[in-house]
Amino acid sequence: MAYNPEFLARITERRAALRAELAALLPSAQALVWEIGSGHGHFLVQYAQAFPGKLCVGVDIILDRLNRSGKKRDRARLANCHFVQAEAREFLDALPPGVTLREIWVLFPDPWPKKRHHKNRILQAEFLEALAGRAGEGTPLYFRTDHAGYFTAVVELIPTLKTWQLDPTAPWPLEQETVFQARAPAYQSLVAVRTSHPATPAETTAPRPPPRAGPR
Ligand SMILES: C[S@@+](CC[C@H](N)C(=O)[O-])C[C@H]1O[C@@H](n2cnc3c(N)ncnc32)[C@H](O)[C@@H]1O
Repeated sequence: MAYNPEFLARITERRAALRAELAALLPSAQALVWEIGSGHGHFLVQYAQAFPGKLCVGVDIILDRLNRSGKKRDRARLANCHFVQAEAREFLDALPPGVTLREIWVLFPDPWPKKRHHKNRILQAEFLEALAGRAGEGTPLYFRTDHAGYFTAVVELIPTLKTWQLDPTAPWPLEQETVFQARAPAYQSLVAVRTSHPATPAETTAPRPPPRAGPR
């Protein structure tokens, strides 16, 4: 596919800036608790407070939500909690070498309810494979949604992958209501765990139009 050179230049610049930001934030090999779509930060700030020995990073694409998250973190005086403005796939590709994922949290991701938009959902085979490339055996992925169709799609997808398996017995380490959880009449949760199967190396961020938050 041919892309407009200005569009490509903007993307290249944005990704270079993200790489530099992450290299400064994570200068040595570290294992992160990563929250994808951290929203207003309610969950991650509480989590970082409960587990001071864990380095927690939340990413979101909406700056205002990140600013609010940062204020919560500062009020709690946490040194182990960071918020970064980034698209999740770009963040993953921009992580410095040696940085790994010890936990992955995806709470109430945009459900993209229309069938023709399902391709925009964050939890897809290609992305899970890319996550597997940074996650050691046993790394848990915690997923919670109020969208029954999205939940079923992930329940059906995981067993088709060699790098992840569902773990119905895994505990949910911390309950903390998020903004979208508070609005949900009901929700479902699952834990998937990284298997020992080697991941296929993948770069997930082919040029695409700048992402936006999905409709609810
Ligand atoms: C429905 S909200 C849920 C926020 C929070 N987890 C909660 O439960 O309140 C989904 C969040 O994911 C963010 N988001 C959507 N697509 C994203 C992407 N590709 N990368 C990073 N964040 C994304 C949105 O900006 C939004 O804040």
